[in-house]
Parts: sequence; structure tokens; C-alpha cells
Amino acid sequence: MSTCALTSLRLRGAVEVPGDKSISHRVLLMSLLATGESVVHNLSPCVDVCSSAEAVRALGGEVSTLRGGALLVRGAAGRMPDCARVDCGNSGTTIRLLMGVLTGAPGSFMLDGDSSLRRRPMARVAEPLARMGASIDCINGCCPVSIRGCSPPRCLPEFATPVPSAQLKSAVLLAGAQAEGGSTTVVEQHESRDHTERLLEIFGAEVVRRGRRSCSVSRSDLRMPSGLRVPGDPSSAAFLLCAAAVLPDSEVSVPNALLSPSRTGFLRVLRRMGADVSVSLSGYYPEPHGAIRVRSGSRIGLRGCTVASREVPSMIDEIPVLALVASQARGRTLFKGLGELRVKESDRLGAICGQLGRMGASIHAEGDDLVVEGPCRLSPCAGLSSGSDHRIAMALSVASLLAGSEFRSIAGEQSVAVSYPRFAEALEALLEG
Ligand code: S3P
Repeated sequence: MSTCALTSLRLRGAVEVPGDKSISHRVLLMSLLATGESVVHNLSPCVDVCSSAEAVRALGGEVSTLRGGALLVRGAAGRMPDCARVDCGNSGTTIRLLMGVLTGAPGSFMLDGDSSLRRRPMARVAEPLARMGASIDCINGCCPVSIRGCSPPRCLPEFATPVPSAQLKSAVLLAGAQAEGGSTTVVEQHESRDHTERLLEIFGAEVVRRGRRSCSVSRSDLRMPSGLRVPGDPSSAAFLLCAAAVLPDSEVSVPNALLSPSRTGFLRVLRRMGADVSVSLSGYYPEPHGAIRVRSGSRIGLRGCTVASREVPSMIDEIPVLALVASQARGRTLFKGLGELRVKESDRLGAICGQLGRMGASIHAEGDDLVVEGPCRLSPCAGLSSGSDHRIAMALSVASLLAGSEFRSIAGEQSVAVSYPRFAEALEALLEG
């Protein structure tokens, strides 16, 4: 195995990850428009999803914990209290999808978030929703956002997304499910995660999909499904699986993980780099799910590869940890078209180049592309900074492990709980050596 790990530690074992964050947000936020109630198992306990649960409560929905940990989610049937104020915390999915939900609500609402969310672009979402009838004010294109809904909104016959963003697509589709005058169609240049489309169908909406980049929805009465279990979050699993790909003599399995192709681009890239990846499907509801296993151990080791722009949405949250894997692969890895990484919870392109560079990686951005040359021996580095960004914190923890240094100080940061509250414990449970 031609890894440059400075450590004899290895990762071995199986670990379940929390429920998928994207699906958890959507089940909660769509309940605001639906009638009936659902028992939801394995909803993500992460801080971002708690922001959505709080938002739902502030807007008149009901979310309560049952014995055994499942949640009872009762639909609000579109009746939301006028003048409600919602704190969306750090969560871009909460605020952007809510803007779509509230586009059809009679009343005025105020949506805000923390200092990171206040720097992120909201005008891209406000623009199509305003065309559907909402009155939206944001400050320099960012939150706080004040929104006055229009009941019913007007359909948007064809909206071509200017950037590849599932949050933007979802906001327009959620408004479209309430709109009159015909169907609302979103067309993407590159396919992004399709959980909103799939869940709208499960909630009884009239959805028509043409290929993988075009989706229409018509005004529909939404009903809560009788029950569902959220599959494990592949974006959380990615940190453990990528660590197994680069640490010698490692093997990690994650059962019950979401296997939607719109989310598993990182597995395709790991395979292209020569990692030993296997997947076994075990069910299809509410989305394809099953076990993922990654093993290190190829004698020739990993090799660099090219990732095209059209592939990026299917691994958008995994790029920081894939960049780390690339630093251990022989030759050049080129990730193309990463502009959206600059407007995540932090400038992730800048952060990953800066922090992995400090550890000795050969990594730089060329415009919106990322170039990594490997393999390199990462050195322990004091004072690494995640910029309070959960995905950067977890990628740097794996990098520290590889460099043979303490990983818990970064993994233990509060920001990790934004998506994966028990990440450090999961990594620790898998560690041997
Ligand atoms: C998400 C979409 C992605 C992703 C985010 C979750 C979603 O954001 O980065 O973590 O649940 O729709 P964009 O839609 O801005 O790409």
C-alpha cells in the first residue's frame, strides 16, 4: 500500500451514521404544507435539523418525540401564523426551502440565521419566488429575509437554475406545489440531489420528471406518509469511508446508508482512484439504501483522477475530504467547477487549500478548479482552523489522524454537531493500533 500515512493506526469495523440530513429537513419542512401525521424513524439529530424542527414549531407545525426515539410529525396544512419570526441558525437548507414553503402562505414572515448564514446568497432563491408572487426583501442579497406570501402563488412554467443548487431547485418546487395556473418546471444544467422531487411524490404531489435534469410539479394536496425511516447520511459516512481508503490496512462498513446516485458521487471517485469500494442495496423506500464498505489495501495504492463539473453536485459536501484523499493518491487530481464551494458555510475552497497546504499538501485553486498533486506526507500542524465549518473540521480531523497527530481537538469542535454530533466517537470506535 503506497500511502504516506505517518501512523500505524488503522480503522476497522462497522458503524451506523445518523439519518440523512437533507431528507430529514425536507420531511419536517414539507409537513408545514401537508395534512395528517407521520411517525418518522432515524431523523437526523444534528443541529441543522433541529433548526428545521424549531422552524416548523414556530410556524405552527408539531414535532414531538415518541418513546423509543421516533418522532411524530403532524402536518400544519398550510396554516402558518402571520408575523412569525424564524431563526434558521447555520442552516442554508432550512432558510432556502422555507422561502419556497412560505411563498404560498398568506402572511408576513421574518427568517434569519447566524453570522455564517448571513453571508450566504439568498437572492438566487428570492428572484424566482418573487416571479411566483412572493414579496421578498433581503439585505444585500443575504438574510435576514422578510417574505410576504401570495396565496395562491403563480406557476413558473420554466425555470432554468443559474447555479447547480438543490436548495434553489427545491424552493421553487415547493412553491410550485402550491401554485395555480399550470405546472412549475425546474431545469438544471447539472443534476443535483433529488430528495424534494422524490418526497413530493411520497407526499402525494403530482410530479413529472423528464430525464434527470427536469422536474415539474402541479398544485397538489400534500398528505403526510403513514411512516418512514430516514436512511443513514452518506455525507457523514464519507469521512469515515475516506479515512478507511487512506489509512493502511483499514476496512469500514456503514449499514443502512442512503444510496441515492445523486449523493454517492464520492464513491464513484474513490473507485476511479483505485479504492476498494463495495455497495449492497437492501431497500428502496423512501429512497435506495444499503451497506457501503471501503477497504484500503491495494498494493499499488490510489491514483489521481479528474472530476468534471457535471459530477460535482453529487459530491458537493464531500469535496473537502476527497481533496484529502487526493493528497494521498499518485499524480494529479483535478476537480473542475467548484465555484459553489466558496459560498458554503465558509469559503471551503480557500479553507481546504490553506489548511491542507499548511500540513504539507501540494494543493491550489486555479479559478474555480482545485488541483492536488500527490502523494504527500502530511505533517502534524498546530493551530489548524476549521473556520467553524463542520465539513472542514471533519476533513481536518481525518488529515490529523493520517499525520499521526491528535484529531479530537478539531473533531470535538462544536461546529461538527451541525451535521454529525457523534463523529469523534464514531472515529474513535473504529480506531485500532
Ligand atoms: C443541500 C444541498 C447542497 C448541500 C447542502 C444540503 C440540500 O447545497 O451543500 O449541504 O439539502 O438540498 P446547495 O443546494 O446550495 O448546493
